[in-house]
Amino acid sequence: MMAGRGEAPGTGSAPGEGDPGPARRLAVLISGRGSNLKALIDACAEGRVNGRIVLVISNRPLAAGLDFARDAGIPHAVIDHRQYADREAFDRELGDRLADHQPDLIVLAGFMRVLTPAFVARFANHMVNIHPSLLPQFRGLDTHARALAAGVEHHGASVHFVTAELDGGPVIMQARVPVCPGDSPERLAARVQAAEHRLYPAAVGLICSGRIHAEGDRLWCDEKPLQRPLLLDPAPEMTEPCAGTT
Ligand code: GRF
Repeated sequence: MMAGRGEAPGTGSAPGEGDPGPARRLAVLISGRGSNLKALIDACAEGRVNGRIVLVISNRPLAAGLDFARDAGIPHAVIDHRQYADREAFDRELGDRLADHQPDLIVLAGFMRVLTPAFVARFANHMVNIHPSLLPQFRGLDTHARALAAGVEHHGASVHFVTAELDGGPVIMQARVPVCPGDSPERLAARVQAAEHRLYPAAVGLICSGRIHAEGDRLWCDEKPLQRPLLLDPAPEMTEPCAGTT
């Protein structure tokens, strides 16, 4: 059975739930550093995710993350948004290239483009994103600085299915980190990103083992409605997370 909030769900199939089926075909979209892509490459290689990354696309030619795809021998491409007349034309090309590779799931990993409603509809229920906040808090940009300005005690990251509403689709799983005394946006970002690298493979793993799926604004987990996001277990190193931070 799927763990509830506060418990740590495994990323494979649950005991007694049978074969998770063939490895799911994943396409990953990036714009920059690609550390979440790297976490997913490692998780697939180590069998923690029942998936195979069949394509990586960057909209920026110099995205450092392309090196991770190259080093892992994963097909990769640049589709430079500046070469297209408008957002619709770019999204059409992006969608056609993705469709050529028949992905089961499109994984946005630091992909810094707002997608058109037509693109989102084309891949509805088959596209996820990771956002650096505990949604619905702090949608949009500069989440770490905004979290510090708001004085919250906890911050984190969320993995959600993508809908037409920006950062507004149903949330699958979240990772919480503490805000520590003396945090800068950079220091808080580093803590969140370390959590993201466990969170994204865990959430994608649940989808790839067939345990979570989306139907519009609703999520299903082990064939039951998922009422609230799952929560990733804190990492052992987070037991005393603020030690030595002042
Ligand atoms: C992550 O912090 C993610 O939450 C946000 O963009 C960042 C991407 O980082 N959507 P990276 O390129 O995966 O290192």
